[in-house]
Amino acid sequence: MRTVYVVLLTVLCLSLGAAASNAETKGDAAKGKTTFENTCAACHGPGGKGDGPAAAALDPKPKNLTDAELLSTQTDDFIYKVISEGGAAVGLSPMMAPWGGVLSEQDIWNVVAFIRQDLCKCQYKE
Ligand code: HEC
Repeated sequence: MRTVYVVLLTVLCLSLGAAASNAETKGDAAKGKTTFENTCAACHGPGGKGDGPAAAALDPKPKNLTDAELLSTQTDDFIYKVISEGGAAVGLSPMMAPWGGVLSEQDIWNVVAFIRQDLCKCQYKE
């Protein structure tokens, strides 16, 4: 009987640990995908590689959001801020517009979760 409790407790701890304070707990990647396709793909490309149809006219180019090396140096809060307040707020291109007035806080966390889970497939590493 005791073993059952130990196993249950271990499973519980592991799943809590995996979810610890990252975009997955705040956002829904599946919903984020829809927002990304509607709002971001024109520049960042449907697969997030920075090669959308509107990218040709931009300099600097939209970031490649599948770049795990880049994205793992950035916190979820940083990514949230770029999307919400725009590139200019963090020293990037102003062509990355602020979406805070268009998308809700939850929409933005959903997109952050989508970027983490499906585009860069990475988490922030200190
Ligand atoms: C009009 C084109 C355009 C659209 C639309 C656009 N972006 Fe961007 N995005 C850019 C450009 C340009 C940059 C900055 C490139 C630079 O300064 O190096 C950028 C930068 C970013 C960055 C910073 C990357 C990093 O980690 O350093 C993120 C994250 C991002 N965009 C996400 C999004 C999301 C999510 C959306 C949709 C809500 C979106 N962008 C819509 C053009 C666009």
